[in-house]
Amino acid sequence: MDPVRNPYSPGAGSPPPALVGRDAQLDAFDIAVQRLGIGRSAKSQLLTGLRGVGKTVLLREFGRMAESHGWTHVPTEATDDQRFVESMAMLARKALLRLSAGRRAVDRVRRALGILRSFSARWNLPDGSEFALGFDPVPGFADSGALDDDLAGLFIAIGELAQDHDAGVLFTIDELQYLSQRELSTLIVGLHRVSQEQLPFMIAGAGLPSLPSFAGEARSYAERLFAFPVIDSLPAEEASEALSVPAADEGVTWQPGALERIVDLTDGYPYFLQEFGKQAWNIAAGPDCITTADVAAAAAVAVDELDSGFFRVRIGRTTDAERSYLAAMASLGPGPYGSGKVATAMGKTTTQVGPHRDSLIKRGLCYSPRHGIIDFTVPMFDQFIRHWTA
Ligand SMILES: Nc1ncnc2c1ncn2[C@@H]1O[C@H](COP(=O)(O)OP(=O)(O)O)[C@@H](O)[C@H]1O
Ligand SMILES: [Mg+2]
Repeated sequence: MDPVRNPYSPGAGSPPPALVGRDAQLDAFDIAVQRLGIGRSAKSQLLTGLRGVGKTVLLREFGRMAESHGWTHVPTEATDDQRFVESMAMLARKALLRLSAGRRAVDRVRRALGILRSFSARWNLPDGSEFALGFDPVPGFADSGALDDDLAGLFIAIGELAQDHDAGVLFTIDELQYLSQRELSTLIVGLHRVSQEQLPFMIAGAGLPSLPSFAGEARSYAERLFAFPVIDSLPAEEASEALSVPAADEGVTWQPGALERIVDLTDGYPYFLQEFGKQAWNIAAGPDCITTADVAAAAAVAVDELDSGFFRVRIGRTTDAERSYLAAMASLGPGPYGSGKVATAMGKTTTQVGPHRDSLIKRGLCYSPRHGIIDFTVPMFDQFIRHWTA
């Protein structure tokens, strides 16, 4: 059928034509934004889940929701080579820039920008913020040298300015697993201080299940500040809806057997659903139905696309030793895997292969669901690897 009208959208962060199965998170978030807007307490969300389940999409939807309530949304993505303070200052800068756009530099704006200057100076940040340069630093705020205090000072300045303008500010931080345990904890402690001021300021985040756990006081703060929904594959009915609803909008139906087959092949993982849906649509002769035979013909193309895109980019930067470790995991079938069994499959001891295991976790390819257990962060990765090493 007409590829131009193909509604399906495989791709990292690509908004799906129908966002199904996430109502609980969306509703909770909408309520939280509105509560913070009127000075009530509310929990934000830290989403965790495997690759391709729809965390980024959901985070962006949070951003749109916040904007629909007049909030400013500033998104960012953590990387493994970024200085944490610098990325926080950058977020603050963007938020303040937007909040002050088109407004006269009244006292509150001057003060907030001055606090950003103090923060940048204290933390030796390149002051790329020309717009803040003309403002005098505000000593005594966000410049103590204790990062959690200083972040709190910065967040409070943002929250106060937002409140002054009857608005709010949402930071969304994706790929949170790249923050160290210390950075994550610092962020939480800073955020905790703001939450006590009842300001319209919120951070929502998403990361792989390898997200570090919170240490010390950050742990109890985190539980008060956040809900921790696990984003996962879609149950059969919703997985079918993810495909049938967008087709119906185009006047196209799926044969029930065709949907069942795709749900079966993809295990309901959103990324895979979009890829299979896309290929089945393109292969189908139509004009208004996608059949079981179309799905059978499309499956090989979809698997090929996933292999050369979604899966292969994950493998891209790994070393030979890391790949051997991945191959040993995959040789054992679907996960999770006992670390000891993986080592045995390689003819080595757990200690010998420990460094490879750790580096795979650091790269976000694997995670440890419990002590002594390891699994892939990418759904169905074992199949891909077996395929690829065969
Ligand atoms: N709730 C959903 N229903 C249907 N498709 C979805 C849903 N959430 C995400 N997708 C699709 O899944 C793919 C991966 O989404 P993404 O947000 O990048 O996942 P993640 O951030 O968890 O790796 C995208 O192609 C997106 O369109
Ligand atoms: Mg993502």
